[in-house]
Amino acid sequence: MFCEKGNALLRATGLSKSFNGVPAVASVDLDLDIGESVGVIGPNGAGKSTLLGLLVGSLKADEGRLIMEGRDLTRMAVHRRVSAGIARAAQIPQTFGRLTVAENLRLPAVFGAGLHGAEAERWVEEVLEMCGLAELAGTDAEHLGLLSRKRLELAKAVAARPKVLLLDEVGAGLTEPEIEQIMELVRKLRDGRAVMWVEHIPFALRGVCERLVVMDKGAKILDGPFEEVWADPDLQAIYMGVPDDEVA
Ligand SMILES: Nc1ncnc2c1ncn2[C@@H]1O[C@H](COP(=O)(O)OP(=O)(O)OP(=O)(O)O)[C@@H](O)[C@H]1O
Ligand SMILES: [Mg+2]
Repeated sequence: MFCEKGNALLRATGLSKSFNGVPAVASVDLDLDIGESVGVIGPNGAGKSTLLGLLVGSLKADEGRLIMEGRDLTRMAVHRRVSAGIARAAQIPQTFGRLTVAENLRLPAVFGAGLHGAEAERWVEEVLEMCGLAELAGTDAEHLGLLSRKRLELAKAVAARPKVLLLDEVGAGLTEPEIEQIMELVRKLRDGRAVMWVEHIPFALRGVCERLVVMDKGAKILDGPFEEVWADPDLQAIYMGVPDDEVA
């Protein structure tokens, strides 16, 4: 199964998903390794969130395989994939509004990271600190502002102790200085993990990711060092609507 690049931490091959017969993700191959941070861009509807859904298991692939550390996760449910080390901060925050910030983190600490009692409490404290939420630990999630809600969505994913951290538009709707704070946080979170960050904000990805993946119409069309991919005429063609044969 493993080919020339060696044993990737996570390897997706031929992942595909259609909705009502219309392909949303079409035969995507992807390798992720610890220490890597990968940006993902592509127009609305390109299949970015669907791809993350296939990786985290909230969506079931029609075809393809997902292998992590030699284990086949393809048919594994979300909660088991979280325990195996994949977690996602969703595009639409999925926090429990009536629970406090700390309580929101206890759930993934227990059910994702598998911690209990004092150990779970210590880990929640650590995640609160790491994610800049310590002072808001006792606040109900529904009373948070947007930046703090985004931090909490990130923190919930981190609390599950993932090796693969998937981020879906955690910067969307924020001001530039706020996005810089999120960038600083994601930079910290790269350490010891593979991070894949879907975002429509190029400067945020450029500041954090050394690799860039481009999706269009369900396909992964580019994948490589950030600046190389950024300069690729195919990327200009997608965003500028310039036909391929007219790109210099
Ligand atoms: N649950 C669903 N049911 C039906 N169609 C869906 C569903 N989820 C996604 N799609 C469709 O699949 C395609 C890919 O959607 P997806 O949300 O993955 O795109 P995206 O790249 O994340 O876009 P955006 O940048 O707007 O978030 C779109 O055509 C979308 O309408
Ligand atoms: Mg999306």
